[in-house]
Amino acid sequence: MEFFIDTADIGEIRQAMEWGILDGVTTNPSLVAKTQKPFKQVIKEICEIVPGPVSAEVVATDRDGILREGRELAQIAPNVVIKVPLIPEGLKAVKIFAQEGIKTNVTLCFQANQALLAAKAGASYISPFVGRLDDISQSGMQLIEEIITIYRNYNFTTKVLVASIRHPEHLKQAALLGADVATLPFSVLSQLVKHPLTDIGLERFLADAKKFSWD
Ligand code: E4P
Repeated sequence: MEFFIDTADIGEIRQAMEWGILDGVTTNPSLVAKTQKPFKQVIKEICEIVPGPVSAEVVATDRDGILREGRELAQIAPNVVIKVPLIPEGLKAVKIFAQEGIKTNVTLCFQANQALLAAKAGASYISPFVGRLDDISQSGMQLIEEIITIYRNYNFTTKVLVASIRHPEHLKQAALLGADVATLPFSVLSQLVKHPLTDIGLERFLADAKKFSWD
C-alpha cells in the first residue's frame, strides 16, 4: 500500500519524508490556501522534496480551462499529477490528459458509478472521500469495497486512492480491503505509530537497561 500525505504544509511533508514511509502528496485548494503562498510555488517546493506523485488540483470547471491549467501544472515537475473534479467536463479533460500521457487524480468521488466513469475516462487515480461520507452517515468504507470490486471485475488499472481519512481505523480498513493508496493528514500519520503499551514497554526496557553494562 502506498502512503501519501494530504497537506500543502512543507514542514509536515519534510517530517513525513524523514520517517521514510512517504510515497507521495495530495493537495487541494483548501490546503493550498492555508499556506498563504502562490499555488505554483507550493507545488514546485513540494516536488523538490518528494520524488513520488504530487497531486495539484485545477480550479477551472470547463474542459478547455481544465486542460489549460493541467498542462501548465504538469510543466512544474514530471511527478505532478493533475487533480480533476468528478464532473462531466472533468471526465472529458481526463480522457485527453490520458492520451497526452499526463497522469490524473479524479477527486470528489462519492459513489461507485462515478469511480467507474473515471476509470473508463482513463484516470490514473480515483479519490473516494470516506470521511465526508461518514460525516453524513453513509459508509465510506463500503464505497471503497465497491470500487475495488468493480475495478477488479473489469481489470481497470486506475488506482484506488482513499481520501478524506479521519483516523487510523480508516487506514486499517482500507488496507484490509486492498486499496492501492491512502492519503493521510499529518495528524493521522502521526497517530499510526502510537500505542500506550509501546511507550510503557519502552520505559521499562530502558529502566532495566541501566542495570547492565553495554560491554
Ligand atoms: C483528497 O485528496 C482531499 O484532499 C482530502 O483527502 C479531503 O479530506 P477532507 O474531507 O478531510 O477535507
